[in-house]
Amino acid sequence: MMRRLWQVVAVLLVGIGLMLLATGCPKPQSDENAPASTTGSGQAAPAEGGTPAAEPAGPEMTASSQQSAPETPAPTSEGGASAEPAASPEMTPPAADAPPAETPSQQPAAAAAPVGTPYELKIPAGLPPLEIPADNPLTVEKIELGKILYFDKRVSKDGTISCATCHDPKMAWAEHTPTSKGIHEQVGGRNAPTVINAAYAAAQFWDGRAATLEDQALGPVANPIEMGNTMEGMIQNLDAIPQYREMFQKVFGTGITPEAFAKAVAAFERTVLSGDSPYDRFQAGQADALTDAQKRGLDLFKNSGCADCHTPPLFSSYEYYNAGVGMDREKPDEGCKAVTGEDSDMGAFRVPSLREVANTAPYFHDGSAATLEETVALMVAGGKDNPHRSVEFDTVREAKLTPEQQKDIVEFLKALSGTYPIIEPPQLP
Ligand code: HEC
Ligand code: HEC
Repeated sequence: MMRRLWQVVAVLLVGIGLMLLATGCPKPQSDENAPASTTGSGQAAPAEGGTPAAEPAGPEMTASSQQSAPETPAPTSEGGASAEPAASPEMTPPAADAPPAETPSQQPAAAAAPVGTPYELKIPAGLPPLEIPADNPLTVEKIELGKILYFDKRVSKDGTISCATCHDPKMAWAEHTPTSKGIHEQVGGRNAPTVINAAYAAAQFWDGRAATLEDQALGPVANPIEMGNTMEGMIQNLDAIPQYREMFQKVFGTGITPEAFAKAVAAFERTVLSGDSPYDRFQAGQADALTDAQKRGLDLFKNSGCADCHTPPLFSSYEYYNAGVGMDREKPDEGCKAVTGEDSDMGAFRVPSLREVANTAPYFHDGSAATLEETVALMVAGGKDNPHRSVEFDTVREAKLTPEQQKDIVEFLKALSGTYPIIEPPQLP
């Protein structure tokens, strides 16, 4: 009996060990606790000869320090500011089991209890259920607030940049430039990923350094080359607008706080989903939803290794690999290495989801591929050779797909365009 038990324990331990091993790049949520996830992003900062001069123990400090990472020429935008919010969920007792009577004077963030009208999220056909964090339930009012904030340029230091500047609903919630231009025309080093379906990602950013949308949302605000603000600066800007004070009070029962800002924006982002594509209809049994070329492309996609990484239904495994993109630059973007410090993570980036991919050119973490054809050609080649190229690309490489077959795959990728919300900028308070 005892021996059995030990065997079980041993198996479990080995299992956990393997899971940890498999974790190449930051998988913040697999850490034991929230602070650890913070370290995922924080870690890199101190190691990088920290610039954290200014702010006192402030989270924004992490943002700037990571930002000015000397080895990372391409400023990884929305830097370690992820560190900030990462701490906040910790402080916020899950709404459900926060006994209001027992804890008389909670800090404001604790007022996460669902205030307002519960929002029923419609998941488009073909997408899996979406997990909503217990401490940030969706309400109609919160989503509306998040939407307004998403479009409000006053979130940035000088009132010139909103989230929508770089993640424009009219550009499939991304941007059609290789890299983004932020405050004072400063250009970052990475391509703005689409916000569509970001809610499903196992971690946010090309290097996964933020665990959740809540963790992510304050990053760009304090990023010196994106919105260039500080938390205090943003709060000040918003606090000056009486309607915002009212809305935050109504939604969160608090004043305007960074945590509440992050929650509202994240709640809004969770409504930005795309599914119900020709591919989804085909999967649901509608045989003519795909063209013949697309059907051939789907088979090739599944059988030549693409689907190992771009795994349906989200078309990403959310793992991290080095495809050799940009590795021939003088100072390549280190990708995951800047987060984990591991040399083996050099140039590894998160597998992007391919939903809506036909609408989000240019491609790759640095926006270096202008067309889908060019992008697929590099994937079919199994990436570009470099000392850190992931061996997982060998399957595609060995499949030696012909130009005709590549064309079919490109056609197939177009079948991943479905329906997503295209919203007009709301009236700002
Ligand atoms: C100046 C352009 C710019 C602005 C402004 C900006 N972003 Fe981003 N965003 C980016 C870039 C570039 C990345 C990728 C950075 C990286 O991976 O290191 C990104 C990444 C993201 C991601 C992660 C998506 C994924 O698939 O990993 C989300 C979500 C996001 N931004 C939401 C927002 C929100 C919300 C705001 C406003 C508070 C915002 N962004 C403001 C450029 C911008
Ligand atoms: C070993 C994992 C892996 C395999 C196999 C793989 N990919 Fe990728 N794919 C990636 C990674 C990682 C990136 C991002 C690389 C970067 O930006 O540095 C990527 C990027 C892409 C992009 C660009 C998406 C965007 O939004 O920027 C497309 C399109 C794509 N892959 C299609 C394919 C196709 C088609 C196949 C099969 C021929 C394939 N991939 C095989 C991991 C993989």
